[in-house]
Parts: sequence; C-alpha cells; structure tokens
Amino acid sequence: MQNAQSSWKDDAEYVTIVEDLIYHEELLQMEEITHHHFTNRLEHSIRVSYTSFKIAQKWNLDACATARAGLLHDFFLEDRDGVAALNIGSHADAHPKIACDNACRITEISELERDIILKHMFLVSRCGIPRYKESFVVTYVDKYIAIKEVTVPLKDIISNRIRSFITKLNPANSNA
Ligand SMILES: [Fe+2]
Ligand SMILES: [Fe+2]
Repeated sequence: MQNAQSSWKDDAEYVTIVEDLIYHEELLQMEEITHHHFTNRLEHSIRVSYTSFKIAQKWNLDACATARAGLLHDFFLEDRDGVAALNIGSHADAHPKIACDNACRITEISELERDIILKHMFLVSRCGIPRYKESFVVTYVDKYIAIKEVTVPLKDIISNRIRSFITKLNPANSNA
C-alpha cells in the first residue's frame, strides 16, 4: 500500500491526468478524515485511483476517466452521522451520490465517470449494475484496497500484541 501511495508521484502520465483534482483544496480536506480506521479518505482515494489507472492502462480501457473518477469516488466531507443526517438513504447508497454531486461542482464529469462514481458500491448497495468495464475495475479495486487498509494494520497490531505478551512470559525452564 505504501508503495502505491508514493509511486504515483513519479508517474508523470498519472499526475498530468489528476493534478487539477489531487491538489484541489476540497479534496485536500479529505486528508483530515479517518477512513477504514487506519488511513484517511484522500490516501484511500489515491490508492483506488492509481491502482485502477494502472489496470485500465494494462487492459486498454479509458485510463484517464478511471483515474479521475477513481480519485473522486469517495469525494465527500461528511462523517457517517453527517451522511445519515441528509436522509438520502443508507451510507452505502448515499455517499456515491454526494461524491458525484461534489465532483460535478469542481470538474466536468463524463457519463463514464458518473457511472464509475455512482456504481462503486456495487454488491453492497442498491446502485444497480455498472455499465462499463472501467466501473467494474474501480468497484473491485475499491473493495480490494478497503480490505487491505483494514487487515494489514490489524495484522501488525495483533502480532505486536502477541509478541509483547509472549516476551513477558517466563521461559518454561526459568525455575530450573
Ligand atoms: Fe465509497
Ligand atoms: Fe472507497
């Protein structure tokens, strides 16, 4: 995860595609919002965007739309309570709509990009079936990255706790 986070900056093609968004003051605010317990919403969005972009390039898909919509797929500044207070459905149903509205305010959004953002919660919301291959790439990458973001730090926390517990135990032959 750390590698993808740092390597996007060295990818001139990717930076050119997203630079008007990635340093946008509203997107930068997502850096302050905890996401998936151990990361922030901007880092998560960049991981999804860059990983999806590389897959789209490899498969000759629209890598530009994939990168931009991937970056905007979770573009909302509310926490869970804030989204719930809007009364526009469950968190899974509502946040893609908010992200799409926010995206339309700061840039032009194509039909493909709209589908990518609105359908990124495919299988865990009532958003319907994605219409494009690029939408499927982003929805699966989002899930893969989300699982990694939660499980990798959790694995480190658990193994550190086990290690610290074990080091406190007396060796079996300590009384010998
Ligand atoms: Fe999301
Ligand atoms: Fe996401």
